[in-house]
Amino acid sequence: STPAAWSNADAYLAELLVGHDPHLESALSAQRDAGLPEIEVAPVGGKMLNLLARISGARRVLEIGTLGGYSTIWLARAVGPEGRVVTVEAEADNAAVARASIDAAGVGERVDIRIGRGADVLPTLVGGFDLVFIDADKESNTVYLDWAAKLGHPGTVIVLDNIGREGEIVRADSTDSKVVGTRDALRMLGEDPRFDATALQTVGAKGWDGFALAVVV
Ligand code: DHB
Ligand code: MG
Repeated sequence: STPAAWSNADAYLAELLVGHDPHLESALSAQRDAGLPEIEVAPVGGKMLNLLARISGARRVLEIGTLGGYSTIWLARAVGPEGRVVTVEAEADNAAVARASIDAAGVGERVDIRIGRGADVLPTLVGGFDLVFIDADKESNTVYLDWAAKLGHPGTVIVLDNIGREGEIVRADSTDSKVVGTRDALRMLGEDPRFDATALQTVGAKGWDGFALAVVV
């Protein structure tokens, strides 16, 4: 198995199960044109977030790390017209790209973009979130998990992106701050009694990575 085969199979799954979506594809074009990194979730991952939000009946969603708004649109579609997504983005330029794409997708009224670093913005939020998607600077993952527990409630779904890191997560001696942040977060999910969690590795359009899935106990 090779990365090319992973991408081919991912494209096949996306074609069958996600399909083409002009608003989402425009969001990706706008993100690329603005020079933002292409590190949004894959289409199959965006659809998974959408399904998790619907399965859990989430009406209030918190996203940490908006980037160009691709996953935000998937989540906003899931919460319904009365639902709300609060999404936190450290870079004002990213937030502007996301705002335009989210509005163009017709879900702008459901989405509140808060510009600032998570550590500054999260303490200002009112809790009660039903689902939290953490996909920002990996160094702050444990801070974000702590806030997810505080701003959630028993039953809140937490998805933490990028737990695979091409297998680097096994390196206890890693000096890569993203690996260290991810390892710390995984340990917290295993040890902190506020969470019950698992994690799945993924291969596909975004290489070898994965996500953790947790519930607030
Ligand atoms: C990176 C961040 C992401 O959220 C992602 O999905 C892939 C890579 C990164 O910072 O390298
Ligand atoms: Mg990510």
